[in-house]
Amino acid sequence: GNALIDYKKKFYNYFKNNAKINGDIINVQSFLNHQVLPEVLEWVAGFFKESLSGIVFDKFLTVESSGISFASILSYLMGKPFIFAKKKRPITMDSFYYSKSYSFTKQTETELFVSKDVLLKGDKIVFVDDFFAQGATLNSIEDICKQANAEILAKCVVVNKSDRDDIISLINSSDLERIVGECYE
Ligand code: G4P
Ligand code: NA
Ligand code: NA
Repeated sequence: GNALIDYKKKFYNYFKNNAKINGDIINVQSFLNHQVLPEVLEWVAGFFKESLSGIVFDKFLTVESSGISFASILSYLMGKPFIFAKKKRPITMDSFYYSKSYSFTKQTETELFVSKDVLLKGDKIVFVDDFFAQGATLNSIEDICKQANAEILAKCVVVNKSDRDDIISLINSSDLERIVGECYE
């Protein structure tokens, strides 16, 4: 609907003027993943909420740390819990699903842990995150959901750097090409 396009336009314009794009790496620390602006939360969560209308699901699943800010707003707006996968296992987490992936961006292995107490068999999941790059994080999340017999119904990321078109995003790879192109005009 109109709200969807409006949120996307507002975010797109803000991103175009404030993201610092340096080759493959995009710096959004002033508004999305270090300092977080309230209007950015409104646009991102509003866009995902509108995009998910008609999908019947149980929970959001994100990864610490950068997904948490807008996952929490989305959770509040849609009245569904959110889980954030943890990168370190707390001692209180005695029964868990685990997956490991190699991050090309960071050139390190990332381990993800989700307690069996929160991700349940049959859960219908919406995945949310800030960036989708090579898909390493999503592969781990899919692995964990498979172990849990949970089903991922939708994948929402703020910036999709890949050409995958099964992912809901506010900025995709053609947006990025256009934005980078405009800088050199
Ligand atoms: P992938 O899972 O989609 O393949 O991505 P990758 O391993 O390359 O990403 C590793 C980390 O780097 C993720 O966050 C991801 O959000 C982040 N990332 C990927 N591309 C960019 C980028 O262009 N700019 C920025 N700022 N981050 C990027 P993380 O480090 O695991 O966690 P956190 O930042 O959420 O705490
Ligand atoms: Na992230
Ligand atoms: Na990040």
